[in-house]
Parts: sequence; structure tokens; C-alpha cells
Amino acid sequence: MGLQLHMKVLLTVLYSNLINCRDERTHLIHLTALGLTRALRLTNSSSLPPRLCFWSTSRDLAVAETPPAMASPSLHPGAATTALRGTRTRVASLTSSIGHAHLHSQSKFAVRITTPERSLGRLQVRCSSDDEERRVDKTGAGKSWVSPDWLTSIVRLGKGPDTSGIPVADAKLEDVKDLLGGALFLPLFKWMIESGPVYRLAAGPRNFVIVGDPAVAKHVLKGYGTKYSKGLVAEVSEFLFGDGFAIAEDQLWTARRRAVVPSLHKKYLSTMVDRVFCRCSDTLVAKLEKAMESGTAVNMEAQFSQLTLDIIGLSVFNYEFDALKTDSPVIEAVYTALKETESRSTDILPYWQIPLLCKIVPRQQKAAKAVQIIRETVEKLVAQCKEMVEAEKETLQGEEYVNESDPSVLRFLLASREEVSSVQLRDDLLSMLVAGHETTGSVLTWTVYLLSKNPSALAKVQEELDRVLGGRKPQFADMKELKYLTRCINESMRIYPHPPVLLRRAKSADELPGGYRIEAGQDVMISVYNIHHSPQVWDRAEEFLPERFDLNGPVPNESNTDFKYIPFSGGPRKCVGDQFAMLEATVALAVLLQRFDFQLVPNQTIGMTTGATIHTTTGLYMTVADRQQKKVSELVLA
Ligand code: HEM
Repeated sequence: MGLQLHMKVLLTVLYSNLINCRDERTHLIHLTALGLTRALRLTNSSSLPPRLCFWSTSRDLAVAETPPAMASPSLHPGAATTALRGTRTRVASLTSSIGHAHLHSQSKFAVRITTPERSLGRLQVRCSSDDEERRVDKTGAGKSWVSPDWLTSIVRLGKGPDTSGIPVADAKLEDVKDLLGGALFLPLFKWMIESGPVYRLAAGPRNFVIVGDPAVAKHVLKGYGTKYSKGLVAEVSEFLFGDGFAIAEDQLWTARRRAVVPSLHKKYLSTMVDRVFCRCSDTLVAKLEKAMESGTAVNMEAQFSQLTLDIIGLSVFNYEFDALKTDSPVIEAVYTALKETESRSTDILPYWQIPLLCKIVPRQQKAAKAVQIIRETVEKLVAQCKEMVEAEKETLQGEEYVNESDPSVLRFLLASREEVSSVQLRDDLLSMLVAGHETTGSVLTWTVYLLSKNPSALAKVQEELDRVLGGRKPQFADMKELKYLTRCINESMRIYPHPPVLLRRAKSADELPGGYRIEAGQDVMISVYNIHHSPQVWDRAEEFLPERFDLNGPVPNESNTDFKYIPFSGGPRKCVGDQFAMLEATVALAVLLQRFDFQLVPNQTIGMTTGATIHTTTGLYMTVADRQQKKVSELVLA
């Protein structure tokens, strides 16, 4: 879960400085260029529009008269226009995501983007001459402070000759435009095609070895503990996870993982299918029925996020978030805390490592409050559960123990009578809450999206559901019969892996398969996205082909694909919730796709961006209709 945070650290290092734009003539500034609006949409969690502050970095800038057409700014998101006003040093303040204004001179600009909570950093603007859009001056940009070329050169100088045998990515400005939209894995893929499956990406003082080769990924992931650690991950998420086992290392991690894993046994999973997964999915069905009646389009990404929060709350600590129906301070706190982990990864300076600043910076006060709410809630649940376990003198009865009234992971852990502090227990449960929430939500989002784009696959899924379930609710025993639906989920996680990169740090010098040498302390980024999209690894890698996984073969995983398919990672730190998540996604889709047809609202651009997982840039808006029973053969022919 923490790895996406590191991607964003990198992003900040590369892009938070100034780029100079030069132009000799009067021109317009289009702030949409280089994905600025995407960046804003992405990072602005506030309901208020972001503020864009322009200022001149050259002495001779003069601001022209405000053109009448621009006098009254429109605040329509993504299409607003506003005028620049101001003085020589601080040219203007904008309150929209796009601005243009007449300026003349040889101009150098910087733009700072702020929301009421925080600064989003400074970004480049592309200049254009009146209506005729011009391209960025790449030479100038190439020499700028943010140039990956420049950073790469410095790293090379500082390190002396590179004898690692690892090619350095030739990272150009146009390649990294997508970084502004937050989808780092896209340029990582492009560099792989240019530089090969293993390459170095230098970013100022830091550099990452990017891995897109299954054999190297296997070596690194299996080497956790002896040769590799999780590395940087803890820094940005410690404020939330504390000592939780998702970020713990060494003996603490070994002990806690050993304690938690047995709670996710088969009988527990089977109980969850009926008592939690089906029930929460039914709540979503009821909500969608209302939307269907009123003809309202629904953002399915948000619905899936609420559904998976409800599910993980009940399954892990028997807590009713009720996110599908209500707004509660705890839900808001969970989202605030998750957002903070993302924001920390994009901060230029990790000022939040200074305790005093955490006390006075409003964003940190808000984050601390959110963590306090979550922790207090979980602590209360731990205390209540402890009391009950003590009162009943409860102990585990057999390995597959499930308490009838409270089948949660928390109850199992307390009944196991393991010597563990309440704080450790709290942090472990929080680890599971965070690791298990957004990931499954994103899998559901992208699977529904892919199925809506592939009607013949959808028809096959629905035919299978009719044949296996005949309209009834899914049960644990049905899962192995829902083979095609499972393959669709597998294929969705190949195309959209969550998270798209995994991080490790070398504990000592090592030689990777292929003869690449790395030094102790080297950060390694395994790009699951690169492996899953590599034309060297997969045929027709960009196509959604659920049939690529044999229906009668085993469910694909890292072992039976030799690390070609690693959506749940591999090696000792592999996901502990893989079976839980597959069941959860299968049940939710079985319930929803039996009942509804989902149709994408037309003219939407479904872009990708990264948070903890791959998100859409602006949501996944769909209309819901009563299911039309179509024959598979008709759709396949169509
Ligand atoms: C489809 C949904 C899910 C995906 C794609 C997913 C993916 C992953 C991945 C890739 C890792 C390993 C990260 C690494 O190697 O650095 C991981 C770790 C983890 N996952 Fe999941 N996960 C999912 C659902 C869940 C669920 C539902 C739970 C809890 C019930 C969960 C709990 C965890 C925990 C606790 C870890 C940390 C394990 C450790 O560090 O020892 N995950 N997950």
C-alpha cells in the first residue's frame, strides 16, 4: 500500500520546481497544457476551487489590458477562463483551473497552485501565441530545474562511472507530462520500451531501479528479509499505521503476520460471503435501484469505495461504517487520513517529520484529528471485544474458529490469547482496513468498466451467473463454478494492477538476474504495470482477454505464472487478503451483474491516475438499467 506514496515522492522531486517559458510576443497562457487541469482535479480534495497564482520571474514582463471577454471569469471546472491582473512581481491570482491572458514580452513564468488547505506546488505553463497554440520550447525546458536529463546528469556526476550495467532512462519532458496527472506508471512503461525491462530512473538525490522483468521481480520479492526490505514505505504512512504489520519490518513483522494470517481461514471466508459480502452488496443494489428509478447516473467508483469500506469494517472489527447509507465522522476521518498519506508523498519537504510543525500546520492538525478519531474508534472496539472475550472466557476452538455473534478478525485474534498490546492490535487492524479497502474498490471499478466496454465478455459472465446461480445469492461453494467471472477479475487486475508499483530497498549489494549490479541501499521499484503490459511477457498485452487464462486451469498467481502475473505481489510480503479480496469482488459482481446492466455515460474520458491504487481521473459515471437477458451468441456476433 505504501508504494504509491513513493511514486509520488519521486514525482514531486521531478516536477515541483520551476520551468521557464520564453516567448517574444504577446501571447496567451493556456494552463491546461501539460496536464495541469488533470493535476488539479486529482489533488484538489477541497470543495473550493484551487487558486492559481502567477508571477513573473523576469524583470521586463508587462501585463496587457484585460480583454473584455475575459473580464468575468467562468468557474466551470476544466473550462474556466480568467484574466490576469497584478503587479510586476506577482502578476495575478486566478480562481479557476484554466486561465489565459494577454501578456507581452520575453516572459518567464511560474505558477503556484494552492487549495485552501495546502500548496500543490509550482508547475510549468505552456505559452501560446494568441489562438494559435505553440509547443513547449523543449530546449529551454530540457535545461530547466525539473529536467530529468539534468537530474540524471547530476546523479551520474556524483556517483562516478556507472558499472552497474543498468541503462539510465532517457527521460524527456514530453514523456513525463503524464506525471502531472499523477499516473507515473505510464511514463515508466514508455521508458521500459525504450530502455529495456530494467533501467535506472534518476531523480535528483534519489534514484530508482525500475524493474519490468518477471525474473528480476521474482528475485527481489522473494529476497525480502534476507536481501531486501520494504524501505521508504513506512516514512509517509507511519502516522497512520504506527507499528501495523503492513509497514513493520524484521521480527515485529514476522511475529504479527504469523499471528494475523490464521484468522483468514476458510470457514471465516465462507462466513464472510454470506454475512458480509452478500449483505453489503444488497445494500448497494437497493441504492442503485433508486438511481435507476430516478434515471440518475451514478459514479460507480465512489459506490465501490463505500461498499468495500463497509465490507472491511464488518469483516475486520465488526464495525458498521454504513458508508453506503450515511456520512459519519469516522468515514470522513478514514478518507482524510488516506488522503494525507498521498499528500505526504507529494510534499517537497517532509516538514511533517518535525513534531512542532505538525502541531501548527492546519493540514497536519486535520490529519492528526482524523487519525485520533480512527484510533479512538478502533481502540474502543478492541476494548469492548476484549471485555466480551474475557467475560465469556473465550478461547479458540480449533484452527477454523469463528464466533457466531462476531466472526471478525479482531474477535479471532483476541480469542487466540496471543500476548499482544492493544496498540499493536489496533495498528494491525488499521493495516488491514487500509490495505483491504481501496484495492478491492478499484478492482471492482475497473472490472465493471472493462465489462461495459466488452459486451460479449459481459454476456458470457451473465450467462454463467444464470447457469450457476439461477437468480439466487452466491455462496462460498459457487465460487469455483464462476470461472469466467473470476477470469474477468484476473484479467482486470492484469491490466489495472493495484498498486501499480511495489517498492523494496537492497539491504546489501546484490546482483540481479541478467547481471545487473546494485549497491546496498538501492531503492528498487517493481513496476507490476510494466510486467503486466510488457509485449515480451504477454501476447496482445493491451487487450482485455479473460480467455488468456485457461478456464479449466488454476487461478493465475505469481507461482504458476513464474512472476509474470503478480497483482498480489509475491514472496514473504505477498498480500494476506488475496483470497478474501477475490471472494469479495466475485460476490459483489455476481450480485450486481445478475440484477443490472451498466452503461457508461457517453462522452466520458476515463483517464487513469494513481492514489493508493489506480483511480479514474474524474469518476466512472454509469447508468443502471434492469438487466436485459441477451443471448451470448447474439452479442458475440454483434
Ligand atoms: C484486490 C484487492 C487487493 C489487492 C490487489 C491487494 C494487493 C496487495 C499487494 C500487491 C500487497 C503487497 C505489497 C508489497 O509487496 O509491497 C498487499 C499487501 C497486503 N494486503 Fe492486500 N490487496 C488486496 C486486498 C486486500 C485485503 C482485502 C486485505 C485484508 C483483508 C489485504 C491486506 C493486506 C495486508 C495486511 C498486506 C501487507 C502484508 C505484509 O506486508 O505482510 N489486502 N496487498
